Amino acid sequence: MQIQVTVNGKSRKSEVEDRTLLVDYLRDHLRLTGTHVGCDTSSCGACTVHVDGMAVKSCTLLAAQADGCTVTTIEGMANADGNGPTSRLHPLQEGFKECHGLQCGFCTPGMIMTAADLLTKNPNPSERDIREALEGNICRCTGYHNIVKAIQWAAEHNSSTLLADPHLWTNDVATKEVVETH
Ligand code: FES
Ligand code: FES
Repeated sequence: MQIQVTVNGKSRKSEVEDRTLLVDYLRDHLRLTGTHVGCDTSSCGACTVHVDGMAVKSCTLLAAQADGCTVTTIEGMANADGNGPTSRLHPLQEGFKECHGLQCGFCTPGMIMTAADLLTKNPNPSERDIREALEGNICRCTGYHNIVKAIQWAAEHNSSTLLADPHLWTNDVATKEVVETH
């Protein structure tokens, strides 16, 4: 079947099998491999992305269910690729950097996408709010303490307007180009 999804500001038209998971569509069709697969059973949260502004586990959704939707992945959170003089990381990415919120980094994209959803709804969360929001995201390395600190850092250092709209951070927000993938 053919689907049309706006991913990180770009409209994509793709031919997918009915059974294709959203995470496989992002990773295998669009080569957006920042979204990770940890369990494939909706347990770990590594595959979290935003669909129409809401954090979802992309291993639990079919690509077909995202037809007509707007999807943001971790690649859409910085206004560039994190390199170069004009690049700028999303406040949450800065927070994880500043507070050493990662070790191996496998869980980090999912943690950041879940945290971005939290800060959109609750720009000044308590430690308890943060820990509750992360209950569907598993980290095998850090003990969570610095992840919580990283999210608090982002909440303290940046305006809710920027946090609320990841597309303000992307280069391709105005892109109308339609890219076809098969
Ligand atoms: S890979 Fe989706 S929740 Fe673990
Ligand atoms: S930093 Fe390794 S799983 Fe979280």
